[in-house]
This record gives sequence, structure tokens and C-alpha cells, in this order.
Amino acid sequence: MDSVTIYEVGPRDGLQNEKGVINVDDKIELVDYLSKTGLTKIEAGSFVSPKWVPQMASSGEVLASIKRASNISYAALTPNMIGLEAALLANVDEIAVFGAASESFSQKNINCSIEESIQRFIPVIEHALKAGIKVRGYVSCVVACPYEGPINPRVVAAVSKRLIDLGCYEVSLGDTIGIGTPKQIIDMISAVTVDVSVEQLAIHCHDTYGQAVANIYAALDCGISTIDSSVAGLGGCPYAVGASGNVASEDVVYLLQGLGIESGVDLNKLISAGDFISRKLGRSNQSKVAQAISN
Ligand code: HMG
Ligand code: MG
Repeated sequence: MDSVTIYEVGPRDGLQNEKGVINVDDKIELVDYLSKTGLTKIEAGSFVSPKWVPQMASSGEVLASIKRASNISYAALTPNMIGLEAALLANVDEIAVFGAASESFSQKNINCSIEESIQRFIPVIEHALKAGIKVRGYVSCVVACPYEGPINPRVVAAVSKRLIDLGCYEVSLGDTIGIGTPKQIIDMISAVTVDVSVEQLAIHCHDTYGQAVANIYAALDCGISTIDSSVAGLGGCPYAVGASGNVASEDVVYLLQGLGIESGVDLNKLISAGDFISRKLGRSNQSKVAQAISN
């Protein structure tokens, strides 16, 4: 593999779980910092219910004020038509619908069953595509669920296939609670690629058990060439208690450099972006690579 796309989720997955108030200007500055690193995909916000995820209520303001680079696709989550309409008003380049391979997680996260979520996504995807907006799909709990435990890879495969059949250009496979190990990731990807082409898959690893970089290496070996990550290792899902941040983007870029795989991302600029938001949140940069290089 010569090149990989990094799909930066820091401004969304990274910040959505933060309990304290984060200044909107700081969120905007984070996206602007990231826009200068060479990234081509940035998930800048989420048009979900502010009662469910208060931190993302400012996503419209963020998207209205960032300095957009023409080569970057700025994305946002949209769980339903209300979210899609807000995202279109905010001029997003692409949207993402997000489902799960676990019934319990689907209920806790988006208040409906897996089948109901698919029915909700149908008009969202149709309208977005008609408006010329690309749609990404997420499947959460691809290895295990915080409420149900291990998840059958065939369920992951079935939900992924439905999202692709509905018009998603890509499905991001989320190890929401960061519990998977490489063999489980490989087995899961093998099940999904029976029906979905590996070019249409991305991997989305949280790092709760410290396995994210190993899991990404395994996913690369399976042919996956889009990797979700979050600057400074920020993140977590409010409906997956105990799950830690996403894999740090800095750590992914370092891994790719070592493998001779091009990502187009400048590691030093990324570290500066991570240091900036970590300072604003009053904590140290969680990326091991950022820590090592900065010391
Ligand atoms: P619901 O309560 O069933 O929705 O929530 P509803 O349609 O009955 O509406 C209830 C109220 O919410 C109404 O307002 C609606 O207008 C409002 P009221 O009449 O009570 O004043 N509402 C909205 N407001 C703003 N934007 C919207 C919206 N929709 C309804 N889009 C709903 C269903 C899906 C809305 C809710 O469950 C929700 O917002 N969930 C989002 C949860 C979330 O954001 N989780 C984190 C992201 S997923 C994740 O992190 C995993 C991922 O990273 C991958 C991985 O790691 O696995 C992607
Ligand atoms: Mg996530």
C-alpha cells in the first residue's frame, strides 16, 4: 500500500464527550490548525440533539466560521432529517450516518433499534445524495458492545452491506470501546469483506486497552486504506461509558511513516494542533509520539 487517508475526528469524536464548556473560538481554531496539517478529511461537528450531546450544539457556528481549504472535505454527523437540514445549512462537504452492530448500543446511542435506524437513514442518504453531498456510514461496536459483550462479525457485515447498498461511499468500522485485538479485527474485516469491497471500508479504533495501533496495523494488512483518528488522542462516546479516546492521529502518522506509507500529513504541525487543544482542555497531549517528540 502506497498511501492512506487519515480521517480526522478530533473536533467531533474528540470533543463530544468533554464535560466542561469549550469556547467555540477554540473549536474553530482547532479545525483551522488541522486544516494546515495536510489532512484532507476533517469531521468538524455533529448535528445531533443538544439534549443528548450538549458539547456539539455549537457545530453550526464552528462550520460557519472555519477557514475552509478547498482540498479538505469538512464532515458532520447527522442521525436524522433534522440533523441533515442543519448540516446542509452549515454547508458541510459530506455527512455521516451512524448505526451499530449491537441492538443495545443502538438504543442507548440513538434511541432506536438497528432496523429503525436504517429506516431513518434512508431519507437522510437520499436527500444528501440529491444535494450532491457524499454520505459516510459508521458501524459501532464491531468487536464488542459495552452492554452486550462480544458481537458476531456477521452482524457487522450485514449492517455494513446495508449502508453501502443505501448509498454510503464508505463504512467506518468502529471499535467503540477499544477492546479489540488484531485477530478479532482481522476476523471481523474478513467477514465484512465477503460482501463489501475493502476500498469502501475505514477503521475507527478507540484506544482503551492500548491496542489501537496494533489493530490499525492489522487493518492495513487486510487492505484498509482509510484510518480514523483524533488529534492528541482526544475522545470517547457519551453512550459508551469507560471508553477512552480515539487512537491519536500523531501516533498513526508516525506508524505510517515507519511503514513508508504516504499520508500527506505533517507530523510536527499535527503535534502543534494537538498541543493547542490539549492546553485549552488543561491536560497533556495523550499521543505517545507527541510526548516523545516534545520531550
Ligand atoms: P430522540 O429523542 O429519539 O429524537 O433522539 P426525537 O426525534 O424524538 O426528538 C426529540 C427532540 O430532539 C425534539 O426536540 C427534536 O426536535 C430534537 P423537542 O421537541 O423535545 O424540543 N432533535 C434534534 N435536535 C437537533 N438536532 C437533531 C435532532 N433530532 C431530534 N438532529 C436522536 C434521537 C438520534 C436525535 C438522539 O438519540 C441523538 O441525538 N443521539 C446522538 C448520540 C450521539 O451523538 N452519540 C455520539 C456519536 S456516535 C459515536 O461517537 C460513535 C462513533 O464515533 C463510532 C464509534 O466509535 O463506534 C461514530
Ligand atoms: Mg468513535
